[in-house]
Amino acid sequence: MEYLVSMEKPLVLLGCAYLSWKIVRHIWGFLNVEKEPVTVLVTGAAGQIGYALVPMIARGAMLGPDQPVIIHMLDIEPAAEALKGVKMELIDAAFPLLKGVVATTDVIEACKGVDIAVMVGGFPRKEGMERKEVMSKNVSIYKAQASALEKHAAPDCKVLVVANPANTNALILKEFAPSFPEKNITCLTRLDHNRALGQISERLNINAGDVKNVIIWGNHSSTQYPDVNHATVDTGNGLKPVRELVGDDCWLNAKFITTVQQRGADIIKARKLSSALSAASAACDHVHDWVLGTPKGTWVSMGVYSDGSYGVPPGIIYSFPVTCEKGEWSIVQGLKIDEFSRAKMDATAKELVEEKSLAYSCLK
Ligand SMILES: NC(=O)c1ccc[n+]([C@@H]2O[C@H](COP(=O)([O-])OP(=O)(O)OC[C@H]3O[C@@H](n4cnc5c(N)ncnc54)[C@H](O)[C@@H]3O)[C@@H](O)[C@H]2O)c1
Repeated sequence: MEYLVSMEKPLVLLGCAYLSWKIVRHIWGFLNVEKEPVTVLVTGAAGQIGYALVPMIARGAMLGPDQPVIIHMLDIEPAAEALKGVKMELIDAAFPLLKGVVATTDVIEACKGVDIAVMVGGFPRKEGMERKEVMSKNVSIYKAQASALEKHAAPDCKVLVVANPANTNALILKEFAPSFPEKNITCLTRLDHNRALGQISERLNINAGDVKNVIIWGNHSSTQYPDVNHATVDTGNGLKPVRELVGDDCWLNAKFITTVQQRGADIIKARKLSSALSAASAACDHVHDWVLGTPKGTWVSMGVYSDGSYGVPPGIIYSFPVTCEKGEWSIVQGLKIDEFSRAKMDATAKELVEEKSLAYSCLK
């Protein structure tokens, strides 16, 4: 009896230890539960941006390193073989996060159950083509794909339009997918935003990650306005305004702006091909920040449906500074706009209003 009593304490301790171990294992297992995969559509996936973009998505650059993904890739019939090749390479890369790949030329199959749609496919402007002719081809592509997305994608699908004219293609998509919340349809100006960060970091010989809060206003075209009036640099000793550190308003108001506006053309000149890796990377940044949020005190540029903020006409897709939280973007309010900026913001808005009426004339 005495022996049993003396055994009681160690047994209770052992029991407690075992129970604690079970609880820790349970919590650990719970924390390690794999997330449900997110389905991402990339249209124009056999093209050069698509080829750079899909491996980035499969590696977690878009949705995070612990988010499994299923990738749907859409292209047109003449690119079907090339698309098959991209699928083979995705399989060969054995990405642990990649839970499935669909490569198709069927727009309905491509759009089924999609949570995020990155619209890269479109009709490029060829030599000798009128603006209206290119617009007309893209309007009919975006009208058809809007309907397919509306019918077959997840109801809260987030859409990023990359293909040019990106702002107006996004507007057409919004018009022809009326049941999608208008906040879910955006276009890519993050590449221009990143180019602006890159130019400032080169000029100051600092890391691009230390520069923040540049703004791209307006159209993803040569009328866009890259604005550094509110941009800062983290000097390690507090934030300092970019204007103060650069100390050269002539450069900031002229060469800097035209360099960012013309960067796409300069890359074509150098590569004999348009930007692809930087465009793919910017598409990942755009969706990443939209879904997972912008860091505190930081904004990014996104082409979104104008609500009239900053005197921009409502009813166009215009690039604004935005912050994102819980999967929703909001336009940063209350920034001071000087006369120089006002004129440039109005000029790019005017171009978008003209593009909108050209697009609408193509629908008739
Ligand atoms: N917003 C930006 O910052 C930005 C930056 C760079 C390029 N772009 C634009 O992105 C687009 C793609 O550029 P790219 O270099 O990959 O071009 P690309 O020509 O290499 O690829 C485009 C792909 O789209 C496909 N396609 C054409 N019509 C389609 C349709 N109806 N459905 C699905 N796919 C279709 C083509 O077959 C091709 O594979 C272009 O419009 C380009 O101007 C935008």
